[in-house]
Amino acid sequence: MTDSLNDFVTNREIQPQDNPVLQGNFAPVGIENSFEQLEVVGTIPEDLQGTLLRAGPNPVDPGPNHHWFLGDGMLHGIQLRNGKAMSYRNRWVRTKALEEKTGLPAAKGGSQLELFTQGSGNVNVVGHGDRVLALPEQGLPYEMDIQLNTKGLYDYEGKLKSNMTAHPKIDGRTGQMLFFGYELLEPLVRYHEASANGDLVKTIDIELPKSIMMHDFGVTETRVVFMDLPVVFNLEVLEQGFGFPFQWSDSHQSRLGIMNRSSDEDNVQWIDVDPCFVFHPLNSYDDGDKIVMDVVRYSKMMAAPGDHDYEKGTNLVRWVIHPNAGTVETTTLSNIDIEFPRVNPRFECYKHRFGYALKQGGAHGFSDLVKFDLVLGTTQTHQVGNHCAGGEPVFVESANAEAEDAGYILSVVYNGDTQLSELHIIDAQNFQSEPLAIVKLNARVPFGFHGNFISE
Ligand SMILES: [Fe+2]
Repeated sequence: MTDSLNDFVTNREIQPQDNPVLQGNFAPVGIENSFEQLEVVGTIPEDLQGTLLRAGPNPVDPGPNHHWFLGDGMLHGIQLRNGKAMSYRNRWVRTKALEEKTGLPAAKGGSQLELFTQGSGNVNVVGHGDRVLALPEQGLPYEMDIQLNTKGLYDYEGKLKSNMTAHPKIDGRTGQMLFFGYELLEPLVRYHEASANGDLVKTIDIELPKSIMMHDFGVTETRVVFMDLPVVFNLEVLEQGFGFPFQWSDSHQSRLGIMNRSSDEDNVQWIDVDPCFVFHPLNSYDDGDKIVMDVVRYSKMMAAPGDHDYEKGTNLVRWVIHPNAGTVETTTLSNIDIEFPRVNPRFECYKHRFGYALKQGGAHGFSDLVKFDLVLGTTQTHQVGNHCAGGEPVFVESANAEAEDAGYILSVVYNGDTQLSELHIIDAQNFQSEPLAIVKLNARVPFGFHGNFISE
């Protein structure tokens, strides 16, 4: 299929430059595809009914200093029904920024807020309250349909007046969605709660000493945990020609901020923690007065402008936060270099035993999948294949599941031999076995960030 946006990109010939995030499977693709009735090796479980949505950056005009976190958002969707892989589609999020670069119209409707609040939709895509939202690092979400058409900016009927994180937390029992947004100007952080049916019912401004990068946060049954970590806004980085304006600061105190979910005002209790950076918690839960928060921890991050080394060197760490004592106890659970940690969504905000993640490193930048049993302290590895690189492991429960790990891991895998991508469907309880099914997408899906399975 060709449309005018495809023509625009093809004519500009997106060229890999001397930049690691424009090469290999980081390189953007130049076409929007629509394929139906995909080839499947193996058997797709009949209880997988829905669409796996993925989000990532796919810049139409990357410059030599292009940063992986920037770039026009592209969504990918793989629909599974009755044991068949019905379709694969990929679409750019039709943002105002894309309109300015390509001349093709942005989606109309939704918010009338100013341009600076518009996101790229390139970090995550979530379903909540019958809406599908493509989420940026900073900016408003774009509402999408399940076919990946952009409906427009979404601002909760005018109630969301500032940025929305790409990492909202959907309470695994109540269905409420908790999220925040961070800004370069006051208020530096805003916390929000949306009801299970998707109404924005609470907003609290949170004070911070400095504008920082706050990518994600922790939520338990009763509390939220903000991470004030030392990657701070730095105008000089922008002035040096680098697009991502945050940099490590030795002088910024690392802190965790605890607030009750029942609170209606900023009464955050801040507790110092050792310097580090965390993009992603695996999950967080209450343990009496204590909070347990398992996180993928970097000892340092973005030490220099344009530093592309942000994807290396993590530990899976458990923070046990003692609000009464004002202390944080840190224990290393695993030294495997991982990212994109996920749990069974039913256990989001509640005590989990299992976690899943993607190993970093290898010839392509990412490699195999891992499953942590945090009760037994064991780790299993699912090898995605020679010359292959996995993607974020998305857990989908099987029908009538009771056990936490009764379900499937869905991972979009890049096959370096064919230079095409495949959806691997893995039995989470037989994690080290061959996939139950491999769906051939017949296209390359560039390494992106996050996604979710939207059940039908
Ligand atoms: Fe993320």
